[in-house]
Amino acid sequence: MLIQKPADIHPSEITPPELYARRREFIKTAAVLGAAAWLPPILRGRIAQAADEDLKPTPYKDITSYNNFYEFGTGKTDPAENAGSLKTKPWTVVVEGHCEKPGQYALEDFLASQQPEERIYRLRCVEAWSMVVPWLGIPLNQILPRFQPASNAKYVEFTTLLDPKQMPGQRTRILDWPYVEGLRIDEAMHPLTLLVTGLYGKELPNQNGAPLRLAVPWKYGFKSIKSIVKIRFTEQQPSTTWNREIPSEYGFYANVNPEVSHPRWSQNKERRIGDFFRRDTQMFNGYAEQVAGLYTGMDLHKNF
Ligand code: MTE
Repeated sequence: MLIQKPADIHPSEITPPELYARRREFIKTAAVLGAAAWLPPILRGRIAQAADEDLKPTPYKDITSYNNFYEFGTGKTDPAENAGSLKTKPWTVVVEGHCEKPGQYALEDFLASQQPEERIYRLRCVEAWSMVVPWLGIPLNQILPRFQPASNAKYVEFTTLLDPKQMPGQRTRILDWPYVEGLRIDEAMHPLTLLVTGLYGKELPNQNGAPLRLAVPWKYGFKSIKSIVKIRFTEQQPSTTWNREIPSEYGFYANVNPEVSHPRWSQNKERRIGDFFRRDTQMFNGYAEQVAGLYTGMDLHKNF
């Protein structure tokens, strides 16, 4: 059998997102049905439907018109209306801190012409709504090692562009700009952590964080920082925007956890955009099998 390296795969061989989504759903449904074969048909039908619904991509229009991007306003429709003023070409990413290869990289060099891949992830916002997004991106663990992080690099800090001329929200003091987020280095290197460059097979729209953002699917959406211009390897836990703003409400970890309420509301249910009824929120947003091991022995009530 011939095994293709990602670089050998021609773009035309990449499955179109819609087809991929349907195929993925089919495989998932088939697996669930296999396990539920002994159930009466009516129950089997319901389980199949639930599996289908869980990863059914949210329509493109909703993903690109219902956003959180305070640099363009605090209303959900503000980013789509105002983000046209963001100039994403050319774009530079600065890499600094504890690593052997710091520098200033043009976006193309930073990504080193790696082919983005399709990943369909749930996105659960701390405000208790959720979506399913077919992202296009490159796992961060395929990018970070090139900069040769030092052994004392325990965390990775990410910073959004600071430019009030292009980002009208930065002319107000609603947040302490620029927006900063951070991950422990093992979280950053986890295979699920994606550096996103597109969605639905297309270039990333400005309101979704063009040209480069994170998608960390097991964490609340505010960890998935948009329009990244700087990556810094640090020894200390970075001071992140929302955590600094209201530490009692927004922890550094921000792992989706239905058992740990936000001080002002429960986190055990969510409204999927487009749905009428709320659904149960899953531990680690449904990715527990893959990521729970990162937090073995940690008190998740304290480290929220
Ligand atoms: N990144 C920046 N720079 N500024 C922001 O306001 N909002 C965060 C996150 N990344 C935000 C950000 C929040 S709260 C969420 S829920 C997600 O982006 C929303 O991503 P989406 O608009 O693509 O759904």
